[in-house]
Order: sequence, then structure tokens, then C-alpha cells
Amino acid sequence: MKRFLIVLFSFCLFGYTAVADEGMWLPSLIGTQIKDMKSKGFKLSAEDIYSVNKASLKDAVVLFDGGCSGELVSGEGLLLTNHHCGYDQIQRHSSLEHDYLTNGFWAMDRSEELPNPGLKVSFLVRMDDVTDRVLDGVSDGMTPEERKAKIDANIDALKKEILSGVEGKGYMVSVESMYYGNQYFSFLYREYSDVRLVAAPPSSIGKFGGDTDNWIWPRHTGDFSVFRIYADENNDPADYSPDNVPYRPRRHFTVSTKGVREGDFTFVYGFPGSTREYVTSDYVDYVLNYSNPVKIRLRTERLDIINEAMESDPELRIMYSSKAAYIANAWKKWQGESLGLARLGTLDKKLAYETAFIEWAADKSEYAGVLSALSETYADRLPYAAASDLFIESVNAVELFGMAYGVAAAVTNGSDLTAVYKDYSSEVDRQIAYVMFDEYMTNMPSEFIPKEVSAMTDSLGSIRAYVDWIFDNSVFASADRATRLVGTTAAELTETLKKDPATSQWNALAAMFTEVIYPVVSRTDAELAALYPVYMRGQMEFEPDRNFYPDANLTLRVSYGTVEGYREADAFWLLPNTTLEGVMEKDNPEIYDYDVPQRLREIYETKDYGRWGINIGTRKEPFYTVPVAFIATNHTTGGNSGSPVLNGRGELVGINFDRTWLSTMSDLEFDPQMCRNIIVDIRYVLFVIDKVGGAGYLLDEMTLK
Ligand code: ARG
Ligand code: GLU
Repeated sequence: MKRFLIVLFSFCLFGYTAVADEGMWLPSLIGTQIKDMKSKGFKLSAEDIYSVNKASLKDAVVLFDGGCSGELVSGEGLLLTNHHCGYDQIQRHSSLEHDYLTNGFWAMDRSEELPNPGLKVSFLVRMDDVTDRVLDGVSDGMTPEERKAKIDANIDALKKEILSGVEGKGYMVSVESMYYGNQYFSFLYREYSDVRLVAAPPSSIGKFGGDTDNWIWPRHTGDFSVFRIYADENNDPADYSPDNVPYRPRRHFTVSTKGVREGDFTFVYGFPGSTREYVTSDYVDYVLNYSNPVKIRLRTERLDIINEAMESDPELRIMYSSKAAYIANAWKKWQGESLGLARLGTLDKKLAYETAFIEWAADKSEYAGVLSALSETYADRLPYAAASDLFIESVNAVELFGMAYGVAAAVTNGSDLTAVYKDYSSEVDRQIAYVMFDEYMTNMPSEFIPKEVSAMTDSLGSIRAYVDWIFDNSVFASADRATRLVGTTAAELTETLKKDPATSQWNALAAMFTEVIYPVVSRTDAELAALYPVYMRGQMEFEPDRNFYPDANLTLRVSYGTVEGYREADAFWLLPNTTLEGVMEKDNPEIYDYDVPQRLREIYETKDYGRWGINIGTRKEPFYTVPVAFIATNHTTGGNSGSPVLNGRGELVGINFDRTWLSTMSDLEFDPQMCRNIIVDIRYVLFVIDKVGGAGYLLDEMTLK
């Protein structure tokens, strides 16, 4: 009876039945979900999604640049991803003369496509359950260290074996754990390294709304960019060469120009980075009460300085645009996440769940002590984890310290220093350093402040004077000064590095991190890694009917759901589609983020939408416009950016690029009422390529339907 009550209690309280639309599923095991998917509108089979033997949709999906997703849309290697995923490449090709960030870039034929050294895309060749191999010889009596060593050795041997079984260039294998080490999969990838920029809209389309609208619905961003993969004459991976030819994928997506409507089934096929749905209340407490508040405060201070600089000078805007977007993105997400966790009461729910779990586990020796052991480990870890967060977000954010190593490397290789300083302003960095050192010296417990730093600050009289001393005297603070080092011998360079105030102070700080802070973080990580498999197994036994999916870990996943609006607040229902009308309503030449490009204004004035115009019915009268973005209930996270969003027939209907503000806590708790992913409508992408970019020739190689 008691057990019955607990089970009943856990269902009511946590609502954990196979919740609609929550979950990121492994494509090779998608069969378990197919019934549910079909009932919602999926028209294909599990084999169409993933197959080792025949071409399947997985062959048209890539991991882009190690952190985003992308999709193939032609038989000639044409690839779509987000504008913000290609942002670094677009920025690197930009200068005041060729400002592709501001004006966009459109290759008018293949000879104009721009190579991007260092950029890679990876295709998943196959994935296999290798749990038995990885856990072979692992036994209960082992210490966490022994266990880890055995697993690592097994993984190394397995990887070698897998790689020796394939012939050809570019193969890469990784072995990843699912359900906290209860299951392991190997992933064999093929990596292509000649990936060229084909097109990017101006930022006033690709990043329309900027950081103001980031994470926000309704949204009007054309967040896409276009690349092309090249291969050698055998279609194999090859580094850039003018002799390379467009890559011929096994499969590319058909593009649907029919659009989607509220209620339509969609699925997302991509590489979600990281979620933690099964962690304890200790972790949620840490995020909510320690980590997020500190990280948010420090980034607010840093962004205030950077934004002011960018407003004041167009050159600084180009230099700092990519950095600012990067810093602001997580900053804003953390704020939404904290609000969402508070709104859902995630911490209290976890605590109640743990109380029930402990009661259930009381007579099960395997699980009885696991939660208290996890709590103790988290308590040990807390001061060090907090110090680590503060370190990383404060002094580690002073770029001067990194410049020293960039210069040293360039001098040693005889490469050009201007590249090192291309996006660096010593004045902006100094302003940041004032604030970051103030944070560090004020908020770090004294045992984490190196003597060298406190002694120097004391002797100079203030933190400001200390920072000035570093910036006034470091040879690395400007390109002009650093050029003095060009041509110096290795010995002289070492001597300079030793004496320079930036490097000597940084060495003391870095030693504090690597010798005092990090070892405890890393030891407790290993302890957590030994305990979580047990707790995860326990949860699966505790709730035998719950449909568990593995946390995201940058492996290929399928999420599915439907196009759907949501209730933002009382009597405030948000519709799932936006249109060009909304772009024009936001248009304001005075505000950088909302300054619609002139070409788009003209198209809007003359309603020259060509085949991309649609009539949208309203209660009064239909209007003629162009679709821009939509939202759906798919469970996504960072890394899913650029993922193909597909209809029930597996045709491309959009590119995933964001989540709504109210759903950013879904990395810890997914709320089906609220959670929506944000997608740029593929018809807007095609419209912009065609009408704004004048690169309609690219559409000819796609399969449009
Ligand atoms: N929020 C999206 C993601 O997490 C888009 C970020 C890029 N856009 C921006 N305005 N910073 O990556
Ligand atoms: N923009 C995110 C990315 O770069 C996706 C949004 C999210 O976190 O869901 O992957």
C-alpha cells in the first residue's frame, strides 16, 4: 500500500508519465518512439531516419564546427546552418572595406565561395551499443579511480579497433556514455575540412533583433547562412585545395515550400549539446543560488563596457561583435533559466522526489545511501566550484593574458602579429580588467587570491593602479609594442614572458586555478561520476513506467513535437507564426538591431514577393505577406542551432535557431506547456536568398517541393 501511495504520489506530483514532446532520442533506437510519432503525424519509418545499410536522413545532417548542426540541401554539397553558427567565419572575412557582417555576402558562382581554414563538418557514419565492451572487467569492488582507468582503457582499445576496421581519410570515432555510464555507444564520424562560405544575409536580417530579441518570441530573424562542402576527386575528405570538387552526399533534404500550420507534426534532427534532467536538488540549488547569479552579474558588467565601446565606434563594433554576441547569449539564457526554475519550483520538486526515493530505497542496499553520498560530494565541491566560476568569469575574461600566448606563438612560428590583434582593443580590455579584478579581489575568499597579486595590489595602493601597472608596462598590451618581439630568439622570448607584468601575474593566477581550485573540482567530478550511474539506475527502477531518454551530450538526436503557440501570461496567447509585417513594424533606422536593410524595405513597399508571398487569413481580411519564423514543441538545446526542422514526410520546413525565454530551463526541467523551439521558416530563407541576395541560382540545385 505504501509503495502504491508513493508511486501514485510521484505521478501526481512530478507529472512524469511519458510526457508529450519531452525527450531527445537516439536515432538508432527511434523505433521505441515510432508509434507515438506516427500518432502525431510522422509518415516515414525508423529506417528512413537512421540506417547503416542504405542512405537515410542521418546522411544529410552534420555536426557543424564542433558545436552547431547543419543540413545538406543539394547533391552538390550545399549546406544550411544558422547565421550565428557561421558568424565567426563571416566575421573573419569582414573588414571595413568588405563588411560582410553588415552587408551580407553572396557568392555569385562557385569561384567566389570563400574557404575557411579550421572549419570542419562531421557526418555520422554509424553508431553502436558498446556497453559490454566498455564495462568489460569493471567490478563493484573497484575504487572510482580504478573504475575510471579500466573504462578509459577499454574505450581506447575499442576506438583503435573501430578505426582499424575502416579505410579512407577523415574517420573519427568517439565513445559516449548514456544514462550516466549505464550504457555506452560508439559513434563513427567522417570529417570534411574544405567547407566554403557561399552566402550570408546582412546581420540586419541574419541577426535581426540582435541581442534584444535573442531568446524571445515573437521573433523576426532570418538566422541562416549557406556553405558548401568540398571533397577530393573520389568524394573523400581533403584539406582545402582549388582542385577539390563539391561533395556528393549520400542523401540531401527535400525542401518543402508548403509551410506548416498550427498543429502540424515536426521533428528536429541534430546535435543537442548538454542537458541534465536527472541530477539531484544539490545541482539545481547550485545553479539557481550560486552559479547563475555570479555569472550573470559579471557578464552584465563586462557587457556594459563592450556595448558602450561598440556604440561609440564602428571599428570597435566589428572587432567586438562576435565576442559580445557570445558573452550575451549565455548571459541572457541563464537569466531565463533561473526565472523558469523558480517558476516551476524545480528545486522543491527535486527535494520531494528525493524524499520519496529515499523512502523507496531504504531497504535496497544498492540505492539506500546514494543520495546522501551525492549530497556530501556536492557540499565538498561547493566552495571550489564557486571559486572556479568566479575565476572563469572574472580574471579569465581579461583578454590581455591570452594575447601574451597568442603573440608568443606567432613570434615562434614567424606568423603575422596583426592577425593576433585584429579583434583586440587594449583600452576596452583595460576597462574590463578594472571591474574584473575588483570582483576577484572583493569576492574571492582570501585563500584563493595569490600572494603575488595581493602584495602587488597593496603596494600600488589600489586595484585600479594595479591594473594600470599591468597595462602600462606589458609588451603585449598593443600590437605596436609587441612587434618589438618579432625576430627575438626563443631564449629572449622566454625571458620577456617571465618578466612581463601580464604573464607573471597571470602565471600566479593560473597556478591558483590549476593547483588549488581545479584539483578539488576534478576529484569531486570523478566521485560524482561514480555515484550518478547508481542514482540513474535507481531512478529507472523507482519509476519503471517513465520513458527515460539520455541527457544530451552532443550526439545525434531526434526530438519531435507540433507547431503550437503558448500562453505567455493570463489572457496573452502567443501565435506560432511571424511574418514580414512584424519585421517592418520593428523597422527603425535609429536602432542598430532593428534597422531593416533598404533592399528589404523596397521589396516590402512594392510587395514584390514572387513565389514566396502568401495570404494569411485574419478575422477581417487576409493580407499578403512572407512567412518569417515559427515555434513548435520540440525539445532542443544549445547545439541544436542550425538543425533541420522537418515535416512528417522528412522534408525541410525550417532551421532551428533558438528557444523562447520561458523555456530556457528545459535543460533541467522540460515544461510541455511552455517549452518552444524557434525556427526560421525555410520559405523566408529561400525568399532572402532569391530576392534580397539575388542568388536565386542556388535554389536551382535544391530539391524544392
Ligand atoms: N540564442 C541562440 C543560441 O543559443 C542564438 C544566439 C546567437 N544570437 C545572438 N543574438 N547572440 O545560440
Ligand atoms: N541558439 C542555440 C544554439 O546555438 C539553440 C538554442 C537553444 O539553446 O535551444 O545551439
